[in-house]
Amino acid sequence: MSSLLCTGGAGFIGSNFVRMVLAETDDSVTVLDALTYASNTASLDGLDPHRFQLVPGSVCDHDLVDELVARHDIVVHFAAESHNDNSLADPSPFVKTNLVGTYELLEAVRRHGKRYHHISTDEVYGDLELDDPARFTESTPYNPSSPYSSTKAGSDLLVRAWVRSFGVQGTISNCSNNYGPYQHVEKFIPRQITNVLTGVRPRLYGAGANVRDWIHVADHNAAVLRILEDGAIGETYLIGADGEVSNRTVVELILDLMGQPADAYDHVTDRAGHDLRYAIDSTKLRTELGWRPSYRDFEAGLAATIDWYRTHENWWRPVKEATEAKYAAAGETTTSPAASR
Ligand code: NAD
Ligand code: DAU
Repeated sequence: MSSLLCTGGAGFIGSNFVRMVLAETDDSVTVLDALTYASNTASLDGLDPHRFQLVPGSVCDHDLVDELVARHDIVVHFAAESHNDNSLADPSPFVKTNLVGTYELLEAVRRHGKRYHHISTDEVYGDLELDDPARFTESTPYNPSSPYSSTKAGSDLLVRAWVRSFGVQGTISNCSNNYGPYQHVEKFIPRQITNVLTGVRPRLYGAGANVRDWIHVADHNAAVLRILEDGAIGETYLIGADGEVSNRTVVELILDLMGQPADAYDHVTDRAGHDLRYAIDSTKLRTELGWRPSYRDFEAGLAATIDWYRTHENWWRPVKEATEAKYAAAGETTTSPAASR
C-alpha cells in the first residue's frame, strides 16, 4: 500500500487516474491542484475521504511542494497548462507551471528520495507528414512546435537531467491525444459534442486534414499504473493505441453518432503553426510491460463519450459559454472550405 501525490488531479486525465487508483489498488491519493480554469472539483466528487484528499495549491509553491513530497511515497506529475491554443494567446503560465513547477517537484523528490513519474506528451517530437510511414518512438529527436509543447519538452529534459545527474528515481511517459469523460470543453472532441448539444455547428480548424492518434483516457492511465509497477528507472515509455484519425473524420463521426448530417460543420481559422500529424509506436510499452489498450474501437469509445456529455450537462454547462467567448476573443472566424485547403 503506497501513498501517491498526484499533481493536477482535478483536471481531465488526473481525475480519471485518481478514480482508477482508488478503484483498483489499496493506495491513498493526495491531489495537489492549483484549481485553474481547467480544473473541476466535481470530477472528484464522491471519493472515499479516508483514502483521498484535495490540497489546493501550485506546483510552483516551494514550501507546499516540499511538505507534500516529504509525506508521500510516489509523485505522479500530471499538472500542466495543457492547451495549445491558450499557449499561443499567452505562453507565460505555460513557462511557469510546466517548467518551474516541474523543477520544484524534481528538487523535492531529490531532497526526499521519492519515486517520480512524469506525464508528458507525444507533441515533444513535433509532427509527421501525412504519408510518412514512420511513427514516433522513444528515440525520435525532440522537435516541439508550440509554446505548450516546447515547455513540455523542456520539462522532460529536466527529468532526464535530474535522473542522470542526481540519481532521481524517475520515469517519463509520452502519450498521444486522450478522449473520454471529464475532459474540458475547450478540447476538440468535447467542444464539438457540446456544440451539437447546444445547437451550434462543430468547428474544424483549416481543412481538417490534421491527424491525431486517439487513445481512451482509461488506457493511458492503465499504462501509467503499469509503469509505476514495473517501469525501469530512467526510462521513457510512449503510450498510444494505434488510433490515427483525421480531424474531419472525427467531426463527421460525432455528427453521425448524434443524428446530424455529416456536413453540418464549419471550417474556422486554422491554428498558428498547427502540427499536421502525430503517431505513436508503443512497442516498448507493449513488449516490456505487457500493456494493451482495452478501448480498440474508436467509434464505440466516442459514442460512450457522447453519452457521458449528454448525461453530465451539469458538469460542463457552467464553463461552456466562457470557453466559446475565449475562442471568439482570440479571433476565430468561419472560413470557406476552399480557403481552408
Ligand atoms: P487539464 O488541463 O485537463 O488539467 C490540468 C490540471 O492541472 C488542472 O486541474 C489544473 O488546475 C492543474 N494545474 C495547472 N497549473 C497548475 C499548477 N501550477 N499547480 C498545480 N496544478 C495546476 O490537462 P490534462 O489534459 O488532464 O493533461 C494532464 C497532463 O497530461 C498534462 O501534463 C499534459 O501535458 C499531459 N498530456 C495530456 C494529453 C491530452 O490529450 N489531454 C495527452 C498527453 C499528455
Ligand atoms: O498529443 C497530445 C496532446 O493532445 C496533449 O499534449 C495536449 O495537452 C492536448 O490538448 C492535445 O493537443 P491537441 O492540440 O492535439 O488537442 P486539441 O483538442 O486542442 O485539438 C485536437 C485537434 O483538433 C488539433 O488538430 C486542432 C483541432 N481542433 C481543435 C479544436 C479545439 C479543431 O479542428 N477544432 C477545434 O475547435
